[in-house]
Amino acid sequence: MKMVNVVDHPLVQHKLSLMRDKTLSTKTFRQLLNEIGMLMAYEVTRELPLHTVEIETPLARMQAPMIDGKKLVLAPILRAGLGFVEGMLDLVPSARVAHIGLYRDPETLVAVEYYFKAPPDVADRLVIVLDPMLATANSAIAAVERLKERGVKNMRFVCLLAARQGIDNFHAHHPDVPVWAAAIDSELNDHGYIVPGLGDAGDRMFGTK
Ligand code: PRP
Ligand code: URA
Repeated sequence: MKMVNVVDHPLVQHKLSLMRDKTLSTKTFRQLLNEIGMLMAYEVTRELPLHTVEIETPLARMQAPMIDGKKLVLAPILRAGLGFVEGMLDLVPSARVAHIGLYRDPETLVAVEYYFKAPPDVADRLVIVLDPMLATANSAIAAVERLKERGVKNMRFVCLLAARQGIDNFHAHHPDVPVWAAAIDSELNDHGYIVPGLGDAGDRMFGTK
């Protein structure tokens, strides 16, 4: 499996360009993130292992492929990661959801945890960690560390935009966790924002600025 996967599907790229535009409304920003969530779910689950079961169609018995293992877990990093959940659940309706509350201290850029709730058997499941933005990667690193403390071994990270240095930092801490992103931007500014980026994803989703 590739450790960095850029989802270059034209629908994803088009929707992302709309989201970058600063004049986009809160409502449409949220709607597009939801739509991209569904498309990213399709990509991140592409290589899930299958096994066959015997079923009977109206015409014949057959060996039919089904996904292996327990239902997967979606783990949004609050707040902005919530924007991916609905679209992904549309595609994987029986997934469980773990919530990871983290905010990035604006001065130090260190991730501060304020909430964590995961299914009791999370360690036995594939966990897909969700956050639209991977900037310094401090939040993503802390979220994955927290899940590893709970025994999770099999994780994937999905974001919309990543900074190149964020991906490098993330993989320096978690070389075992592959990343899916719609685009990788070249820079972080002095405040840790991705440039050109799309601004503050949480604020744009919830209209808090
Ligand atoms: C944003 C974003 C990520 C984090 C990325 O969240 O949603 O969680 O910053 O930055 P990093 O890679 O440098 O850690 P923020 O802390 O602003 O919280 P919010 O989602 O509640 O707005
Ligand atoms: N968090 C965001 O929401 N946007 C960025 O560009 C960086 C961190």
